[in-house]
Amino acid sequence: MSQLRRRDGPRIKYVAEDAGTYDTITVDKLTPIIGAEIGNIDLSKPSNRQMDELHRALAENSVIFFRDQYLSSEGHLDFGRRFGELHIHPAAPSAPGHPELMIIHADKDSPRANGEGWHSDVSCDPEPPMGSILYIRQCPPHGGDTLFASMYAAYDALSDRMKAYLDGLKALHDGEHYRGQYANYGIADKPEYPRAEHPVVRTHPVTGRKALYVNKGFTRRILGIPLDESDAILSYLYEHMANPLFQCRFRWRENSIAFWDNRCVQHHAMWDYWPHARSGHRVTIKGERPV
Ligand code: SIN
Repeated sequence: MSQLRRRDGPRIKYVAEDAGTYDTITVDKLTPIIGAEIGNIDLSKPSNRQMDELHRALAENSVIFFRDQYLSSEGHLDFGRRFGELHIHPAAPSAPGHPELMIIHADKDSPRANGEGWHSDVSCDPEPPMGSILYIRQCPPHGGDTLFASMYAAYDALSDRMKAYLDGLKALHDGEHYRGQYANYGIADKPEYPRAEHPVVRTHPVTGRKALYVNKGFTRRILGIPLDESDAILSYLYEHMANPLFQCRFRWRENSIAFWDNRCVQHHAMWDYWPHARSGHRVTIKGERPV
């Protein structure tokens, strides 16, 4: 874990602009840097004004959480469609008849659980998903939290020299590790999985802020520099971004929802609840080519 101790104050001095209060929803921040729990809303019938405020809350907090929501599969998909066209996962299983409804499930017989390791969803796509909306219906008695890390904060906390070094670099993201991953669901592998080159630092199209955009799950190497240099830089960046300073942690209850912005957030799901089960669905929203 990187040490950010200094004698000249905190490494990260981000103060969010005071954008004013919300009229139709409540927004309770988990940390000053990332995450907020949203209240006073029924996601099965949000008003247009509430939708505007949800867009704003997502932009201001990068990941937003909801409790006690009761959505059908169609309701979950409809809510996602209000943010854009839906993405179909290149490998993962989906609910019967709903290819955009990804199954998130682990129990005592599972060979693996989704999202165990820091990543940004499907960053191997040439146009990776903008956001993901995870609806958990069945929780273990304890555990199964999801951790989220702000890639804005991780970028902001880099030294100016490191920022200058990373400027203009691109990295290769590869989905080949999906091969065989869902064999336990009887899913046959595709001949190819997506691969794409993306900037190491991207600019968020809504907020205009810069975010680190390399992740352990998908990024294979930084391009245009020797492989050993790429390995060393990526390993530094992965250690740096995993500092708890940039994180919040969500404790699930049944019928909770987490909605994260993959353009500026990485997440990590904990599989600490074996032999219990944890189950839900994820709706993922298409994004744009990172710049
Ligand atoms: C994922 O979408 O990566 C899984 C997250 C989770 O199960 O908490």
